[in-house]
Amino acid sequence: MRSVLLILAVVAFACGAAAAQEETVWVTMEQGIFEDLGETQGLLPPTLSPRKADAVRAGVVVTELRVLDLPRIAEFIHHSRRRCGGFIVHGSRAAALEVLHAGQRVDYKALPVAFQIDQQTLVQQLLPELLKPNLLNTIQQLSTTFNNRYYQGTEGELAALWVRDLWQGYAAGRSDITVETFAHSTWDQSSVILTIEGSTLPSEVIVLGGHLDSVQSGANNSNPATLAPGADDNASGIAALSEVIRVLAQNGFTPDRTVKFMGYSAEEVGLRGSGEIADAFVSAGTNVVGVMQLDMTGFNGSLEDIVLVEDNTNAELNAFVGSLVDTYQPTLQRTESTCGYACSDHASWHQRGFPASFPFEARLGQHNSTIHSTGDTLAFLGNSADHAVKFAQLALAFAVETSVSGSAPPPPPPPPTGCPAGSIDFNALALTSYSNQNSTNSTAVEDGGDTLRLTGNTWVRSTQVYTVTANTVVDFEFASGVQGEIHALGFDDNDTLNDAGRHFQFWGSQNWTGTGKIDWTPKYSGGGTFQSYSIPVGQSYTGSMRLVFTNDQDASPSSQEGRFRCVRIYEAGSPPPPPPPPPTGCDVEEDFETGGGGWVASGSCVTGAFVRGTPDQVISSGVTTQPTGAHNGSNALFTAPNTGGAGTEDVDGGECVVTSPVYNVTQASTVAAWYFYGQRTAGNDANDYFFLEMSKNGGPWSTVVALGDVSTNAVWTEGTGSAAVGDSVRLRVRVSDGTANGDLVEGGIDSVSICP
Ligand code: BES
Ligand code: ZN
Repeated sequence: MRSVLLILAVVAFACGAAAAQEETVWVTMEQGIFEDLGETQGLLPPTLSPRKADAVRAGVVVTELRVLDLPRIAEFIHHSRRRCGGFIVHGSRAAALEVLHAGQRVDYKALPVAFQIDQQTLVQQLLPELLKPNLLNTIQQLSTTFNNRYYQGTEGELAALWVRDLWQGYAAGRSDITVETFAHSTWDQSSVILTIEGSTLPSEVIVLGGHLDSVQSGANNSNPATLAPGADDNASGIAALSEVIRVLAQNGFTPDRTVKFMGYSAEEVGLRGSGEIADAFVSAGTNVVGVMQLDMTGFNGSLEDIVLVEDNTNAELNAFVGSLVDTYQPTLQRTESTCGYACSDHASWHQRGFPASFPFEARLGQHNSTIHSTGDTLAFLGNSADHAVKFAQLALAFAVETSVSGSAPPPPPPPPTGCPAGSIDFNALALTSYSNQNSTNSTAVEDGGDTLRLTGNTWVRSTQVYTVTANTVVDFEFASGVQGEIHALGFDDNDTLNDAGRHFQFWGSQNWTGTGKIDWTPKYSGGGTFQSYSIPVGQSYTGSMRLVFTNDQDASPSSQEGRFRCVRIYEAGSPPPPPPPPPTGCDVEEDFETGGGGWVASGSCVTGAFVRGTPDQVISSGVTTQPTGAHNGSNALFTAPNTGGAGTEDVDGGECVVTSPVYNVTQASTVAAWYFYGQRTAGNDANDYFFLEMSKNGGPWSTVVALGDVSTNAVWTEGTGSAAVGDSVRLRVRVSDGTANGDLVEGGIDSVSICP
């Protein structure tokens, strides 16, 4: 497995003298860079790895490099590509291969927690506490107290301990906050981790991090005299994180979820510090539900203020971070950009399956050009933290809004009438005079049927008969601006006023002394505002009865009035009224235009894993295996584009699967999805197949469409099933290319709908 060892170098490189000369690491790097390295061997010292590519996929190579060659390779990349980056170190060959096969394609994975912006009061209160002078001071100290913050050597470890002490000072007096160093066994510099323990959901973890190391390109960085100020890259990120820590700690912030702030070691040499930490979290099974990376926040190089890096990040989390900007920083402009490679520590989390976001100082290419040089100073940032503070604000909003779980989503809006469902519509309730009392007979229906207003001496009863049981309750609201003699509500089974205890009197200038009333408290307090009542009528009498409203005023009837609103008759202990009927639109209309809609790719296939994008036509031996374009709009989920020609990214080596989230069906519906299946060669392999399947209510998968082992042109086609009210439905697509050689198999799905 291992390559033949090359002749040992005698040349001293920019790494610790104690480092084992043959210590190697597994890396992933861009295929183009790997090839350039090979071709340029002559320009490089004879010991230079790489030796061979271990695996190649989609333009990325896995190879094994000698640790002592890493600085030289990084420098070579900087010079030949005129940009940074190009390789990531992994803990093992298996880990590197895992990234190759799974790393980049899970960008539309659904977030484990549906974050909401519901802590505006708290965030708005904390934002003004962030102080620019503190940011400036931290950048100044980190970039000048130490000659460099290189991951090997004395200066770098001193800088890490300085960050630890700063954070410890901020956390003083908070027993729920711990600060620790995370030691890395194969280099000097520690990472630093501050933890605010969550109070109610401590096992769900939010991470905010940035690297604390620095580097000077092309220098002997292990020399403690080498200067690598790294003011922007990345004292500016550490400064923003530190100020957020100070504000949260000193204002008594206690999250529901656990929040961890991290200063990573050894980012500049292959994301190594964050890689080891993320590995440890995977091993411990830690449930990291959101990550924010701050790396370079100080240089305002673009028209926009905040640039969200789109690659090696989670699309849904990016959308959430974007809405944080819109909510809390409404005067700022934002846009998106891509690094094109795993440019910072967010990639360490992303490639291990954790959702990450990376708000960056500028569009890529317009960022600070002095990084990795002696010119990356606070002076180059204009001695200003004006730009960096925007990132501190965003990080503070992120920390609070992701770690406080908030209230349940707001209840559905009340029905348009303004009364609870089931309340009487007085436009639909016929009323007649009650007994011989209704001399004024002045009634009015108001508020679109919600309110009955009685004026003067007015007693009315419903023509409708109600069955009052022992459990019958009447809820209503009452208001009056002018008191009458008796204000009451009750039921009566005849038209006689004076039979025992029918009418609940809750207000009035006259204390009714007859046998027909029940004295009800609390009394209405006057003033014309509505007051709520809930009267368990059935506890006093039962039977078939009419509803009676009383506004008694025998003495010179005039403006005395009573208003009854939201009158609802119901059985106590019975379930609450059903929710309003669902809107008649579709429960689901998913076109994959703006995201993956929570669909998740899985399966055993080596190539052709489902991605979101635009299918590009493939025709081979006269068979169309992939159509041109999505069914609708520009995006679909399908088994990868074939940019390298037919057969480069078709389904190979097993089964590619993509599965929907659970859809809740609120009405009898047709479940529809458009799919394509292309297969070139007929009859040579029973394991060439396509399935569109549906599972209801967690039950087994049933087939909606099954195709396979016949030559099939890929054409967008509709598949349908049905679902009933209350069903929960999932869909999935499985596409497989069996072991027989030389076939082409492709599949895709688009325009998923669940509509009546
Ligand atoms: N801060 C940079 C990354 C960066 C530079 C992002 C410019 C966007 C624009 C980071 O510290 C860095 O230099 N990373 C290395 C990564 C590599 C060692 C895996 C790089 O880009 O060379
Ligand atoms: Zn950096």
